[in-house]
Amino acid sequence: MWLLLLAAGLLGALGVAGQDFKVQESLLLKSLGLRAKPSPRAPAPVPPLLWKMFRRRTFPLAAEKKPADACWVDEFSVPGNIIRVFPDQGGFIHREEPESWVCLQKRLYFNFSALEDAEELTMAQLQIRFSHSSYQAPGLGPPFELSLYKASQMALRGMSTHAYSRNLLVEQSFLHLHKSFLFNLTEVAKSWRDSGRNLGLILEIASPRAGVLCSRLDSFLDVSLLVITLAPKHCKGGRAKRSSHYVPAGVSNICKPRRLYVSFGDIGWENWIIAPQGYLANYCLGECPFPLTEELNSTNHAILQTMVHSLDPEGTPQPCCVPVRLSPISILYYDNDDNVVLRHYEDMVVDECGCR
Ligand SMILES: *[C@@H]1O[C@H](CO)[C@@H](O)[C@H](O)[C@H]1NC(C)=O
Ligand SMILES: *[C@@H]1O[C@H](CO)[C@@H](O)[C@H](O)[C@H]1NC(C)=O
Ligand SMILES: *[C@@H]1O[C@H](CO)[C@@H](O)[C@H](O)[C@H]1NC(C)=O
Repeated sequence: MWLLLLAAGLLGALGVAGQDFKVQESLLLKSLGLRAKPSPRAPAPVPPLLWKMFRRRTFPLAAEKKPADACWVDEFSVPGNIIRVFPDQGGFIHREEPESWVCLQKRLYFNFSALEDAEELTMAQLQIRFSHSSYQAPGLGPPFELSLYKASQMALRGMSTHAYSRNLLVEQSFLHLHKSFLFNLTEVAKSWRDSGRNLGLILEIASPRAGVLCSRLDSFLDVSLLVITLAPKHCKGGRAKRSSHYVPAGVSNICKPRRLYVSFGDIGWENWIIAPQGYLANYCLGECPFPLTEELNSTNHAILQTMVHSLDPEGTPQPCCVPVRLSPISILYYDNDDNVVLRHYEDMVVDECGCR
């Protein structure tokens, strides 16, 4: 039988329960690494790569025998359990003395305030995409030159407002605009965190054959930074993927996992959790009767407690039916800054119960 968590209905019926719900909710959000319940204002579309990674974690192919490690990102071969995509928040730089061959100059800025201090940054990859097909026929020589600089100093007094001192990171020529460029910015992103100073990057695109396209380049540009971090608090080393579906056996009152489907819509989280819409969380319920058998996954202490209980039922309670094995799930959501995040959360599904 399926139990539905109808928290919304309960909220309406009982004011006190509503207060309890709020307290519990804020504690849970905190343990999920969020300041408050996110309410995305201008959520960006979910990058296809994150969808792909989410699906791979949630519905692993039968062929993939290797258990998914909660703290390893296979797609990039780096440690990590949180994958964020930061949208670029930098502005365009309008220069006072425009050089005709510079199509665009833009500051790139990614706000890392969502990263917690304890998280270790293991990878950062910049993606620059142009949402427009190429104007330039191939074979005409490289018409565009892309340069990426790390901004290292703010404007000094007397200099023009947008002057930065900058270090060249990459220089690349390209023919086609519809291309997507990926740059490994792991070292740069680490330095932003380590120094506590993140002045962002400067992107410059120039073309010796500047034309109409050049002047409109800014409207085709889409930049984001994919960042992988490891929050060790939420890692318990590699563990097996949850045993896919729990089917309760028989109707008995003995301690065992019961089926509980939690719908994120029912608890009012549907506008910030992108996927899944809900999941099979389960819970433990049942008696821990005398004599405690091995199947009940008891501790020596629980067996002893059961013995004492059988002698003194009033003074000593029976052991409790509690989760003894839990497994993780992956959640795709918008955080408090509207970044798209794919995160692996430990201990979200009850797999086994025991008398403890
Ligand atoms: C980064 O985001 C935080 C939280 O949303 C905000 O308080 C802060 O002002 C932002 N920093 C910049 C430089 O935009
Ligand atoms: C990215 O750069 C870091 C540091 O320079 C390096 O360790 C890592 O292997 C690079 N990753 C890829 C995918 O090239
Ligand atoms: C106790 O653990 C075993 C495997 O270790 C499991 O098969 C069994 O279902 C567990 N018992 C309960 C009550 O969950």
